[in-house]
Amino acid sequence: MRIHLKSKSELDQMRDAGLVAAEILNEMCEAAKPGVSTWELDQIARKGIAKHKVVSAFLGYHGYPAVVCTSINEVVVHGIPRKNEVLKDGDIIGIDFGIYKHGFCADTARTILVGEVSPEKKTLVETARQALENAIELCRPNNRIGDIGHAVQSYAESHGYSVVRQFVGHGTGRQMHEDPQVPNFTDDGRPGSGKRMKTGLVIAVEPMVNAGTPEVEVLDDNWTAVTKDRRMSAHFEHTIAITDDGPWVLTKP
Ligand code: MF3
Ligand code: CO
Ligand code: CO
Repeated sequence: MRIHLKSKSELDQMRDAGLVAAEILNEMCEAAKPGVSTWELDQIARKGIAKHKVVSAFLGYHGYPAVVCTSINEVVVHGIPRKNEVLKDGDIIGIDFGIYKHGFCADTARTILVGEVSPEKKTLVETARQALENAIELCRPNNRIGDIGHAVQSYAESHGYSVVRQFVGHGTGRQMHEDPQVPNFTDDGRPGSGKRMKTGLVIAVEPMVNAGTPEVEVLDDNWTAVTKDRRMSAHFEHTIAITDDGPWVLTKP
């Protein structure tokens, strides 16, 4: 277990990375309308990466072939952009994007509504978004990693949803995935477990909330993770620094 705490000047660099990631993610979200392909979203991100002279955190990661993950409807995470995958009215799409700037990673995701979306899907997306907000509030020195999992799980389950176990949040820094792991659940359903958070810790908190059961399966492309019951899933992610002044959401402008 190697946890790398960051200095104030390192956090300033990570903030710079976070703002670039947020800006490019926002461009993709604004472009995500009916008729647009997920490949086009990847193209937008590639242009943003070139414009800002930053480095993709995803491209080539364990052979991943794109700079963004695009996860529509029952896809939980790690959907690969494709030319022949076109957004339709009523879809929800999770867009997950990560870069390195100054050698530091910023990792952020959002699920958005495409055109006119059913109330059921809207409530799922809103619950996942709020679950992340609730978790962020707990990202403070001396609170525990398990407090995050408890916040996400208790909020999602109180709305009749489930949280994914198979993928978790993570520390981030010079590598996208650093220790500690940041689960969206706890083993006993209670807060107060896990390591204490310290000033200078940077974590990516990323609730994946399912309408049905928590189980996921990975498709034959070895990336696309879908819900086993093929019901909807929503994913949000921010990169957050733990500071003496409270949570610093590096990927929130
Ligand atoms: N950004 C994802 C996460 O939130 C990981 C993506 S892996 C990739 O941890 F290979 F798809 F890039
Ligand atoms: Co991510
Ligand atoms: Co992440």
